[in-house]
Amino acid sequence: MEFDPTTLPPNGMYKLLISSVVPRPIAWVSSVDAEGVRNLAPFSYFMAITDDPPTIAFSSSFRGAGRDGKKDTLRNVEATREFVVNVVDDALAAQMNLTSGEYPPEVDEFEVAGLAVAPAARVKPPRVADAPIAMECRLDRIVPVGRANLVLGQIVYLHVRDGLYDAATGRLDMHRLRPVGRLAGNLYARVHDIFEMKRPNPDYRG
Ligand SMILES: Cc1cc2nc3c(=O)[nH]c(=O)nc-3n(C[C@H](O)[C@H](O)[C@H](O)COP(=O)(O)O)c2cc1C
Repeated sequence: MEFDPTTLPPNGMYKLLISSVVPRPIAWVSSVDAEGVRNLAPFSYFMAITDDPPTIAFSSSFRGAGRDGKKDTLRNVEATREFVVNVVDDALAAQMNLTSGEYPPEVDEFEVAGLAVAPAARVKPPRVADAPIAMECRLDRIVPVGRANLVLGQIVYLHVRDGLYDAATGRLDMHRLRPVGRLAGNLYARVHDIFEMKRPNPDYRG
């Protein structure tokens, strides 16, 4: 079959795209508004851009038909220029899903999902205490792209759960991390089938 994005029914391209770019990592973004009210929501239009300077990005789509339906996360990041990206593992998947509900701005999703809160070191938004990794970010820039805004953040501090960091390799233990990836619709993937493949370049040190 072939598809021309301009002739698809409403939502058709969304469904094809989220079925095609899989599995997607999930940025579980904590933020605060100008008064300090906490917010937490998942975003799987998410990627690492470069490690120098360490920069990650997620995109927040508009709610509804127009362009005034900015999500709370985007409004908070615009107001405070700070956020934290928490990594979701198997144990936190159900609570991550709870925080995706469309709650009014004054609702604290940490409370909705019964999550323990831990302070960040360099930014105001708190982190999910039980997340295996939390990346504290300062806003680099926001790039409007069609019906979404791409939020780029520079990582200024990292929290990694004890027992995950391998000092000998400098990597995190991929067998212990157990991250969750998003597929299409309500489907998710666990990372329980890991295999190794050496680079053709013998000098590769990734
Ligand atoms: C796994 C998962 C991934 C999601 N990814 C995105 C995304 O990439 N972009 C987006 O705009 N919404 C995404 N959502 C929906 C938002 O989480 C949802 O709209 C949420 O209510 C936004 O919260 P906020 O208004 O507090 O920012 C996702 C939801 C789930 C469950």
